[in-house]
Amino acid sequence: MLGALRGVIDPELGDDVVSLGMVRTVSVEPDGAAGHVAVELALTTEGCPLKVQLRKDVDARVGAVPGVTSVKTTFGVMDKGEKARLMDRARAKAQEGAPATDIPTTCKVVAIASGKGGVGKSSVTANLAAALARRGLTVGVLDADIWGFSIPRMLGIDDKLEVTGTKDSWTMAPVELVIGPERPYRAGNSASGLIKVVSMGFLAAESEAIMWRGLILNRALQHFVEDVTWGAMDYLLIDLPPGTGDIQMGLARMLPRSEVIIVTTPALAAQTVAGRAADMARKGHLRVAGVIENMTAFVCDHGTSYPLFGSGGGTRLAAEVGVPLLGQIPMEPSVAAGGDAGRPVALGEGPAGDAFRELARVVVEEAVPVVEVTGCSAASILAGL
Ligand SMILES: Nc1ncnc2c1ncn2[C@@H]1O[C@H](COP(=O)(O)OP(=O)(O)O)[C@@H](O)[C@H]1O
Ligand SMILES: [Mg+2]
Repeated sequence: MLGALRGVIDPELGDDVVSLGMVRTVSVEPDGAAGHVAVELALTTEGCPLKVQLRKDVDARVGAVPGVTSVKTTFGVMDKGEKARLMDRARAKAQEGAPATDIPTTCKVVAIASGKGGVGKSSVTANLAAALARRGLTVGVLDADIWGFSIPRMLGIDDKLEVTGTKDSWTMAPVELVIGPERPYRAGNSASGLIKVVSMGFLAAESEAIMWRGLILNRALQHFVEDVTWGAMDYLLIDLPPGTGDIQMGLARMLPRSEVIIVTTPALAAQTVAGRAADMARKGHLRVAGVIENMTAFVCDHGTSYPLFGSGGGTRLAAEVGVPLLGQIPMEPSVAAGGDAGRPVALGEGPAGDAFRELARVVVEEAVPVVEVTGCSAASILAGL
């Protein structure tokens, strides 16, 4: 019976209902020569549009088993644990078809997403990368905002990437930026962190021409995943373009292990669009690791806090998605100034810098813990000091 049910594929998840753990019970009630079979399937949501299709498929598959005369299919709704297992399975399945990449399996991939632009996604990406590197970690930054890249400016990099190889087979090394240790005075902590960056903004005219020529541009994300010699990394942060379009779905397909952090502002409108980003992440079966509220409040020199963009958006969104609020970044002119000057505020003093460093701590210690490899590198040992 289970063998027959393995032929029933959930078209959305691309795997069979048995492997996905959707089959709750199968009972066979022999009735003389006739066999009545009752199947209960657990669905992710009550109003699942696939109900009709699944019922048809179960009828057809199970009904074809010799001795079966009637099939009765009922539906239940998955609990949290069942859903989590289903997501794990769907992710593993997606991983099987994922392309080869130089991104180490131990590297945590974190996509920074939002429903709309201008909420500070790139600022968060650049500063989180800087704060993580300051802890001695090696952090990749993949600037997936192909058309509206701002990472090069924010990290103060104007290097050019050179493509090596032939037109059909080439690789690209990321631009590297050494970040000094957080507490160099502390005995033993001499580890420097490293940021490795790839962005459309680095492409030398020649390389850019290669990309344009092969109409590779709209597949830039794929090339950044497949053809960049990333090498060792603790984290890879991906600065996504705003919205829930192709790049987002491409990411889910190419790097199904990605986790998503959603950036929002305290205003309700931004929270609604950010909610859509969360929805997108779930559809792509990516785990949402948490929410960051940016531009939380303007703190004046006297320490008075002005919530210019309303308040509570981050908390509300986090509660809605069922994930933690990882941090709140104050509105501070130095964030914008640092971004323009290519000196991330996370490497300097002040409340915003402190907030970014605290965010990095929460990411490393709680939300997306760094993978500790046995006999681990000096960098990850020192990060714990
Ligand atoms: N916490 C903040 N305080 C002050 N300005 C900020 C803050 N976060 C972002 N900004 C500014 O807001 C603008 C939009 O930020 P950006 O990171 O480019 O957003 P996105 O990538 O979501 O489009 C930039 O000019 C940036 O410097
Ligand atoms: Mg941006």
